[in-house]
Amino acid sequence: MSSNTTSEPTIFIIFGGTGDLNARKITPALYNLFLDGWMPKQFSIIGTGRTQLTDEQFRKNMLDDINQFSRSGKADKEKWAEFEKNIYYQASDVKDAETYKEFGKKIDGHNAEWKTKANVIYYLAVSPNLFPIIASNLAKAKLAEDKLKTRIVIEKPFGHDLDTAKELNQLLSSIFNECQIYRIDHYLGKETVQNIMAFRFANSIMEPLWNRNYIEHVQISVTEQLGVEERGDYYDGSGALRDMIQNHLLQLLCHVAMEPPVSFNADEVRDRKVDVLKAMRKFTPEDVRMSAVRGQYGSGWMQGKEVPAYRDEPKVDPQSNTETFAAFKFFVDNWRWQGVPFYVRTGKRMHQSSSVISIQFRDVPHLIFPTEAAESWQQNRLIISIQPEMSIRLQVQAKRPGIDMVLNVVDMVFDYKGTYSQQAPEAYETLILDTMLGDQTLFMRGDQVEAAWELVMPILSTWQHKKSLNFPNYSADSWGPEAAEALIARDGFNWFTLPVNGKK
Ligand code: BG6
Repeated sequence: MSSNTTSEPTIFIIFGGTGDLNARKITPALYNLFLDGWMPKQFSIIGTGRTQLTDEQFRKNMLDDINQFSRSGKADKEKWAEFEKNIYYQASDVKDAETYKEFGKKIDGHNAEWKTKANVIYYLAVSPNLFPIIASNLAKAKLAEDKLKTRIVIEKPFGHDLDTAKELNQLLSSIFNECQIYRIDHYLGKETVQNIMAFRFANSIMEPLWNRNYIEHVQISVTEQLGVEERGDYYDGSGALRDMIQNHLLQLLCHVAMEPPVSFNADEVRDRKVDVLKAMRKFTPEDVRMSAVRGQYGSGWMQGKEVPAYRDEPKVDPQSNTETFAAFKFFVDNWRWQGVPFYVRTGKRMHQSSSVISIQFRDVPHLIFPTEAAESWQQNRLIISIQPEMSIRLQVQAKRPGIDMVLNVVDMVFDYKGTYSQQAPEAYETLILDTMLGDQTLFMRGDQVEAAWELVMPILSTWQHKKSLNFPNYSADSWGPEAAEALIARDGFNWFTLPVNGKK
């Protein structure tokens, strides 16, 4: 996101160094930043975890991770040799004060060697119950004293509900200034998500149309073919509302609904997003009944493979009431959006993996063409495809070539693949670079997280008190429960799906 290219000498301390997130996302991101010349000349990556490993063993693990997960493919021998010199490992017990003394020594060692005071980034890629322990121990060991040079990165989930999110915010702000706290929502680092703001605010033709006078409804849909995989222990205590809606989907909604910021400044952008969350209509128990749908997947076949029901997944309660699908009709009560429904859905084990925003414009005020000419009539739509396709398409009516007047829908397309030759960076590359540069635009501010929790709390508590009686209510490889179709069909619309490789 940043256009500033120089980052200062930096020491990363990665808690959860032997974990899955480090393997799949953080390590490949750091390596790709290095390949693309974004890492500072002097940097050090110190992985830490409970497992006893030597530096060499940790380096070998990181190399394997890069070879398996990096977007740039297998590591280049020479580049890797250069990169690995900067990697270290320290086995640690995060509850033990000694651990932090060791980190202190390592930091001092690098500072002495580099003859500077490096930035230190504490990256908490650990289970959320360890966030407060690590933050407090960093403070006790006086490793967070320098407000200009130390930063903390917190992965999601940030809190389990509003109260726990507030508690964590309070604790963090007793140790760090807000400008040192980087709360990750990795959707904000996605290239296509960042582009929503560019598309809206760098083009003059969008703004006059971007309101209730021209937009009939908005759909935000993030569907995944994957089930819960090995994450049953975390997911069963979370569910789709906490795992996806409270953060990723609400952030997408904010990008669509926010007012133009005065400048591209972290606080200014985040202020405008908080405004949206605050303007969103809170659900009453009756709204939960009418405008919210939850689902849980049953067994089925996906791409020729039989897959288990959610309740039969490893580490999931066989009677679980956790939702793996959630759909809502939201409203944003302000001048721009009054009366425009925002339909939002997400689910696991769905027919397609795709994240798409569809903005449907109002119909023409009067149709001048005969009905035969307008057989496949469809209102204009703007489709922002976030993944796997990365594109923006405007669907308009056009005359089909021929001597008769027949209209059909055509797409005006901006497709990343066809337009740019370079690969888009992974979200984690953007976010890690921004952390080094001190740019918080793409990170969640404390009040933003709390506003999002405030919005979902009435739904969470209604669902918690009223168990669903019909789980599982959708089969794997479907589009979710029928009630989700009804939610939108009642208003005369249907969920938009983008054909993937020509298939819906
Ligand atoms: C994570 C959720 O935040 O986002 C996962 O915890 C989900 O459950 C993932 O699968 C989706 O991210 P992406 O980038 O694959 O769309």
